[in-house]
Amino acid sequence: MKIKYWLTVVAVWMAVLTTSGQGEREVIRLDEGWKFAFGNASDPQKDFGCGTEYFNYLTKANSIHNEGPYSPKFDDSTWEEVRVPHDWVTTLPYAPTASHSHGYKTVGYKYPETSVGWYRKIIRSEELKVKSEKLDHYYLQFDGIFRNAQVWFNGFYLGSEPSGYATQVYDVTEYMNYEGDNLICVRADASLEEGWFYEGGGIYRDAWLVKTGKVSVAPFGTFVYSDFTTKSIKTQVTVETEVHNSSLETLEVMVTNKLVNAEGKDVDYAAREIVTIRGKETVKCKQLMTVFEPHMWSPDDPYLYKVITTVRVNNEVVDRYETTTGFREIAFDAEKGFLLNGKPLELKGVNMHQDHAGVGAAIPDALQAWRIRQLKAFGCNAYRASHNPMTPALLDICDREGILVIDENRLTGINQEHLRLLERMIKRDRNHPSVIMWSDGNEEWGIENTVQGTRIAAAMREYTKLLDPTRPSTIANAGGSEMIKGLDVVGFNYILQNDVDNRKKAHPDWRIVGTEETTGCGTRGVYFTTPDDKGHMVSMNMTADKDGTENRIERGWKFYDERPWAAGLFYWTGFDYRGEPNPLSYPAHDSEFGILDYCGFWKDEAWYLKSWWTDEPTLHIFPHWNLKGHEGEEIELWAYSNCDEVELEVNGKQLGRQAMPKNGHLKWKATYKPGKVVARGYKNGKCIMTETIETTKDAKKIVVKTDRTSLHADGRDVAVVNIELQDSKGRTVPDACQMLTFRVEGNGRIIGVGNGDPAYMGSDHPKDKDCKEFQIPAFNGCAQVIVQSTKDAGTIKVACEGKGMEEGRVEVKSD
Ligand code: GAL
Repeated sequence: MKIKYWLTVVAVWMAVLTTSGQGEREVIRLDEGWKFAFGNASDPQKDFGCGTEYFNYLTKANSIHNEGPYSPKFDDSTWEEVRVPHDWVTTLPYAPTASHSHGYKTVGYKYPETSVGWYRKIIRSEELKVKSEKLDHYYLQFDGIFRNAQVWFNGFYLGSEPSGYATQVYDVTEYMNYEGDNLICVRADASLEEGWFYEGGGIYRDAWLVKTGKVSVAPFGTFVYSDFTTKSIKTQVTVETEVHNSSLETLEVMVTNKLVNAEGKDVDYAAREIVTIRGKETVKCKQLMTVFEPHMWSPDDPYLYKVITTVRVNNEVVDRYETTTGFREIAFDAEKGFLLNGKPLELKGVNMHQDHAGVGAAIPDALQAWRIRQLKAFGCNAYRASHNPMTPALLDICDREGILVIDENRLTGINQEHLRLLERMIKRDRNHPSVIMWSDGNEEWGIENTVQGTRIAAAMREYTKLLDPTRPSTIANAGGSEMIKGLDVVGFNYILQNDVDNRKKAHPDWRIVGTEETTGCGTRGVYFTTPDDKGHMVSMNMTADKDGTENRIERGWKFYDERPWAAGLFYWTGFDYRGEPNPLSYPAHDSEFGILDYCGFWKDEAWYLKSWWTDEPTLHIFPHWNLKGHEGEEIELWAYSNCDEVELEVNGKQLGRQAMPKNGHLKWKATYKPGKVVARGYKNGKCIMTETIETTKDAKKIVVKTDRTSLHADGRDVAVVNIELQDSKGRTVPDACQMLTFRVEGNGRIIGVGNGDPAYMGSDHPKDKDCKEFQIPAFNGCAQVIVQSTKDAGTIKVACEGKGMEEGRVEVKSD
């Protein structure tokens, strides 16, 4: 064993000595310099004549008759300059006639003038850093375009992708101009919906141009997996690599792989593999490495390794490719639920859509990371990407932050269209240690109770295994009884409609997870509504559900926490999202199911989860005590806490001390009068914390807080700047809704604002790509501005002012 190891090391070392080390891949991020204009979904003439030419793009390669935006001749000087990621829907108004599920934005088949977006970008030859004609390998990669994208390069039609959630890769090697400019053109058509939630429109995820040597690792061409278990000392790591020869010659290619730990130390080398690859051919190699007692990956310690693949031709390095990996053992068990590294771990999860206040679906990576940190703050450890594959950057964040992921396919079915999407998701995402399960679909009502459903689910399950034998798969079930038989792990959406206990009794071998469960949430900070207010709602947790349950969020957690055979649950949802304002409708346009609102401000229920999902002493009392107009009324006061007992005093009167039931809540009744509420939390008979809420005066002060004081001057990084309105005594004013003006000075810009109001009708996204000033009212004491760095280093000053209030300021460095 030892001898083989040293022979391998020496062989690889000698190979390394003979390289000239020139073949580094270059990845060019295509974020700047895009031009944008609306086309038209119903009239090709208004759609820049797209496809109407004599010999159009579908009839001839790079037709000389091309005149549309895909033609290098086309004049886009009147088009708007935008930056990618870009979601054009954020700038559109709301209308009651627009789609309810998509949040009443004027996009969709009823609005042909605002449902097609065209993008053009010229890549200047300087950006390519290529001096002379040399047929290397170039490909374009889009992580997601919503939707029905058509892509052209230098006037050539490259293809189309109906799904807004699939990563698209186009080989442009043969189409390149090595000496001059290169034109990318994209048409996106959001007329039809793919989901039943806000989906945005345009190039809303990252876009890339990748240059490699003439032989390279194919896009998403590595699969790294291991036989790691907590019991074995030695782990075998398998690396499957797809290597593509972009040239026209048959070449002898050497592929080496090494495993590197987080400290940058080489851990092991695979024996090199020499393969003969014909021109334009892609071949697969399989190599093995060994690691002894690897550092395990877990939510508490998300330790990552890297596999570095090097491709050589004639001893010259032509490509180097990194794959992030981690060692963890996962299992879904019919008796013990979910096991990570051999130990039961309850999934404390949330479902998430992929949009945020102000920026819509075009979420910068730093904001993705911020959103994950907000979820972790109340104890969340798992994320279900409902109901589509997530953006790759977010999976990298989950790897680093130790979040366990269910990655979900958009379309359920077993023909080319469905399997192609499934395959792309799995091949792209299967190296991430954070991914613990695939989901092949959600609430497929049409097949949940049919024999076809069972067959389709079973076929998808097997197909999923062919692509990744290391993880199970599920489909979230809405109460059906047939499709469920074809699953690896049974995902139940809502205990009320699934009769989970009885079904488990009948099928003790079922492995079960709660893929959706209600949070019961409503609008942040709203405790009363008037009949005229159609946009806000009081948390449903304050009234009983049809089974008599009060505090619905508790029903879900109690249920799964008490059943060790279940893997845990995923609440619907972590953040509010645009669309599905159920049970409300226009003017409400955002969902209110979030534990956090659309900006990530906490609703009361976040404290319920923090109490039972973390060990941190927690005590939260609600409602607030600014209940003007309700004087003399009897009010229920609730406590979410993990203290043993909580005592309440209202306006100087003791209302008593009560023992907190496990996973429960407490309540008292008091007559409302402005004043003060004091809650005391006890552990082992000792008062360990106090929470005071008081009736405040009007807001007089704007407090501005940034999550980051230092940004990268890369034109992409963002600071999330939150605003809190306080009275003259420094108390948060929970019902303050004053108009605010944000101003940014220096090397930064405003890319979005928000306040968490699900019925706010004004704009939350600036049209100007270098916006310096924007207005939005606060909603119930809070507002948010998302500030992005530019490519110039310096200081970014953020100010917020409002009538009659002391201005708030904060500074962020950018370098
Ligand atoms: C579920 C569905 C989710 C969402 C939710 C709203 O049934 O899976 O996508 O629509 O209902 O309550």
